[in-house]
Amino acid sequence: MRGESSVARILLTGATGFLGGAVLHQGLSRRDGTEWVCLVRCASAEQGRQRIAARLSRFTDPFTAQRLARAVEVVPGDFTRADLDADPRLDSVTHVLHLAADTSWWGEERVSRTNHDGTLALARRARTMPRLVRFLHVSTAMICGTEAPPLVEEAAYPSPQARHLVAYTVSKAAAETSLAGSFADLPIVVARPSIVVGHSTLGSAPSSSILWVIRAADRLRLVPCDPASAVDIVPVDWVADSLLGLLRKPLLAHNLYHVSAGEGARARWDDLMRAFAAADPEGGTRDDFTRFDLVADRALLRRRFSEAFGLDGALKQAMLRAVRAYYAFCSLDLTFSNARLLAEGFAPPPAFADYLKVCLENAPEIAEQFADDLEMFVAPEPTPVLPLTASA
Ligand SMILES: NC(=O)c1ccc[n+]([C@@H]2O[C@H](COP(=O)([O-])OP(=O)(O)OC[C@H]3O[C@@H](n4cnc5c(N)ncnc54)[C@H](OP(=O)(O)O)[C@@H]3O)[C@@H](O)[C@H]2O)c1
Repeated sequence: MRGESSVARILLTGATGFLGGAVLHQGLSRRDGTEWVCLVRCASAEQGRQRIAARLSRFTDPFTAQRLARAVEVVPGDFTRADLDADPRLDSVTHVLHLAADTSWWGEERVSRTNHDGTLALARRARTMPRLVRFLHVSTAMICGTEAPPLVEEAAYPSPQARHLVAYTVSKAAAETSLAGSFADLPIVVARPSIVVGHSTLGSAPSSSILWVIRAADRLRLVPCDPASAVDIVPVDWVADSLLGLLRKPLLAHNLYHVSAGEGARARWDDLMRAFAAADPEGGTRDDFTRFDLVADRALLRRRFSEAFGLDGALKQAMLRAVRAYYAFCSLDLTFSNARLLAEGFAPPPAFADYLKVCLENAPEIAEQFADDLEMFVAPEPTPVLPLTASA
């Protein structure tokens, strides 16, 4: 019978990434006897362990990071070829937490190969794990596309009608569709985080991914939408806790959950402006924020960007493209309902405006922080940026 043993043996993909590091740090810190098996791209188990330790050291001191990394079983490998991986250490897994993904926005064929085809390869390997009780697949709330209602409910997506801004969300939607269609025999639960920014107590130390964009919007004093509209942002430590809860809770009411701020903790732009003003060491106000049109006012954005950051060199050019792309997401005014998650008894998320100050306290220069997301923008911006469909 599946899941007879009480000792959990968790296969984690993506341990060297932002969310994976947070999950592993929290999971290992619990010292509850859980066995952690990490599938990591590396030349040797020792190199993989060092890559994991480097990621963990963003959450704790280097000594503790090394100690925690030593408690992990490292399986060198690529999850996109997991179905060909006969390593017997994978056979006895009880839970899979699949976080690994290609998170770059524009590498169409590559992201589809990794996020769709690769996820199915891992699911095929999971079929040969007789003790498996849960396969938690981490998708993204943004699979809803550009025309979703202001309050997004889980069950409405993935939808073949959804229009996407980037190939990344197309690939994540396709993976969900194929998992549901072809792997009904697996105990799959899907978690869809919204926008993960910072850590509620460590601020931007674990990663400055996306935080730099919100800071850039503040520096530019430009908002691409009604200031009363919202962005759904959550901290990585709360996401990690929620994912561990979804992975380990024996019975869940649903097989699909947003891991999101929801109506209770979403960030309205005007709240963010107030939070930036409150955190400003120079006591500056934010009365000079201007609403602008992302398409019609391209020249205004370019001019402000050039004044604020300069436009010299490839990095700044890439940063301007990335700001435009993120603004497109931020102007969608989407809140992802977390009612299902909260009904499971998990803690509600803190609001971004409440932990923004912590994130700013240890944040280096904005352009320096952009380096954390640079890989997401390596492919050239497609021209024109037309909405994509899940079937594209
Ligand atoms: N961050 C967010 O705001 C956010 C929001 C919603 C959903 N999500 C989802 O959450 C998950 C984790 O995101 P993240 O922000 O933590 O991403 P990340 O920092 O870019 O990390 C990606 C991880 O995936 C691993 N990976 C990629 N391809 C692999 C392969 N072929 N074989 C083995 N490992 C591979 C990477 O390993 P290497 O170190 O070897 O490259 C890395 O550990 C993703 O599924 C993402 O779609 C994230």
